Amino acid sequence: MLSNKNIIVTGSSSGIGLSITKTLLKNKANVIGVSRRTPNFSNKNYQHIGFDLSKIETEYDKLGNFIKDKPIHGLISNAGTGKLASLENFSPKQISEFINLNLNSHIIITRLLLPNFKVNNNGFLIYIGSEASYRVGKYGSIYSACKFGLRGFVKSIRIETSSNNIKVTQINPGMVKTPFYNNLKISPGIEYDEYIEPNDISDVIIDVLKMRTGTVIDEINLTSQKKIITFKRKK
Ligand SMILES: NC(=O)c1ccc[n+]([C@@H]2O[C@H](COP(=O)([O-])OP(=O)(O)OC[C@H]3O[C@@H](n4cnc5c(N)ncnc54)[C@H](OP(=O)(O)O)[C@@H]3O)[C@@H](O)[C@H]2O)c1
Repeated sequence: MLSNKNIIVTGSSSGIGLSITKTLLKNKANVIGVSRRTPNFSNKNYQHIGFDLSKIETEYDKLGNFIKDKPIHGLISNAGTGKLASLENFSPKQISEFINLNLNSHIIITRLLLPNFKVNNNGFLIYIGSEASYRVGKYGSIYSACKFGLRGFVKSIRIETSSNNIKVTQINPGMVKTPFYNNLKISPGIEYDEYIEPNDISDVIIDVLKMRTGTVIDEINLTSQKKIITFKRKK
């Protein structure tokens, strides 16, 4: 199904994106990974582009040049980071860079790929949203602005591309056990049923891609069996 397909995965160096990358490679896809760090594995079907997506406007042309002679079959738009704090703790520059990474990069990379997808009448776009795409929490104003915004974008682009045979899906995980929480004051619980594993999301993506032509899995919400938030102690 994925043999020799060229798929872009943003945020391929860690967590969910790393798991998705490895799963796609196992399924014989060629992966073009985008993140600042290079993942610490090698695979002949993996190519890495070291980009800072918080500066997406300047990186846009570089990405375009990198892929210009390659047919791209799909995008897993995943890169993102979490910062939870009162709004006044963010400088205007931090807000802009955060929105660039967590919302604009998803839109702008889609914009790069869409003309070819439309001409070829083929392609898939899978976005990693969040519970914060449909539910708000204290100190998550900018994160939720991005994830709610992403959901609006995805729903609209799905309608825009439905007659071009382009499949569009958004996956909204609850708390996934990844380095995402390394710099946050919260993390998921530690028992097996208190977090989602990155591989759970990769498995869902394979299911999404297996769906027959003609049916689209529009949106999927995943959550841990038990909802536990651990508040880290101050050191
Ligand atoms: N973990 C959760 O509980 C959870 C829940 C819901 C949704 N999500 C979403 O899932 C996505 C992946 O998160 P994760 O849990 O896998 O976190 P993670 O382990 O911290 O991975 C984040 C990925 O994004 C990349 N990234 C961050 N800043 C970047 C930048 N400026 N330029 C390019 N790439 C950048 C990182 O690569 P580099 O650092 O190498 O650049 C890394 O590959 C995010 O969109 C997040 O909002 C996570």
